[in-house]
Amino acid sequence: MADAGGNGGHLPAGDAGSPAGTGGGPGGPAPGGGLADGVPVLAVQDLVAGYGEAVARYGEAVALGGVSISAAQGTVTAVLGANGAGKTTLLRAISGLIKVRGGSVLLDGVDVTRRKPEDMARAGVAHVPEGQGVITELTVEENLRLGALIRAGRAVRAAALEQAYQQFPVLASRRRKPAATLSGGERQMLVIARALLAAPRVLLLDEPSLGLAPIVISQVMALVAGLRDSTGLTILLVEQNARAALAIADRGVVLNLGKVAVTAQAADLAADTGLLNHYLGL
Ligand SMILES: Nc1ncnc2c1ncn2[C@@H]1O[C@H](COP(=O)(O)OP(=O)(O)OP(=O)(O)O)[C@@H](O)[C@H]1O
Ligand SMILES: [Mg+2]
Repeated sequence: MADAGGNGGHLPAGDAGSPAGTGGGPGGPAPGGGLADGVPVLAVQDLVAGYGEAVARYGEAVALGGVSISAAQGTVTAVLGANGAGKTTLLRAISGLIKVRGGSVLLDGVDVTRRKPEDMARAGVAHVPEGQGVITELTVEENLRLGALIRAGRAVRAAALEQAYQQFPVLASRRRKPAATLSGGERQMLVIARALLAAPRVLLLDEPSLGLAPIVISQVMALVAGLRDSTGLTILLVEQNARAALAIADRGVVLNLGKVAVTAQAADLAADTGLLNHYLGL
């Protein structure tokens, strides 16, 4: 599957504190953390993307100006940054929702840059956009079924649905209710469960804590950590709520004006109050 074609020795998943800039940090196979033994599940290299004519006209002034991120299997990478830093754009560029102008996206070492969103989904990338986007007129179960459509075979889809209900008992008890009746936290759970029904390898989560009460935010973060630990999913967790995200993340990336300002172990980032203050105003 993964071959010698793409990776070129970029395995920056090792240790803390290396300001990554755009280079991603060369270096041999990463011993640190014991998580990355080989090709990262997701590797974004020097990604450039933007909107409309901005890239052509402004050159550097694009939403993403050469971003490199590497995520090992079974890890949560918190993607942090101020408003407009490029977090959402990064997820959109990875999942094929906006045009990639430069750089590459590798999944298990395979170049998947510029694939269509549906092909990215088939390749194992699930994207949960900002805003708890359930279809309120549909029941919980109908929403979930949408997530399984990509799976081949009725029996497979039915089994996946049952698994989702075991994983999310709250949704099981509300399965016949319109999604409109769910709380914000339950809706967030529903969109995550819906994404998981596609059986992804990589989950891209855009601000799952947005608009939720602090206690519910903790629950959502615990859910994300639990998914990583129980399924080995590789998760990019975009968050404004840096502290909540870093509390469960393995690594953290701070974006600033469309570039990677810092890449580090999550615990080291969380402890660096000066840095959090500088980039995130915390
Ligand atoms: N649809 C769009 N059309 C034009 N410019 C856009 C569009 N979406 C985002 N941008 C611009 O691209 C840049 C990056 O935006 P992006 O939404 O990726 O930031 P973000 O880090 O997700 O911010 P937030 O924390 O507010 O969600 C910003 O300058 C933003 O104004
Ligand atoms: Mg955003």
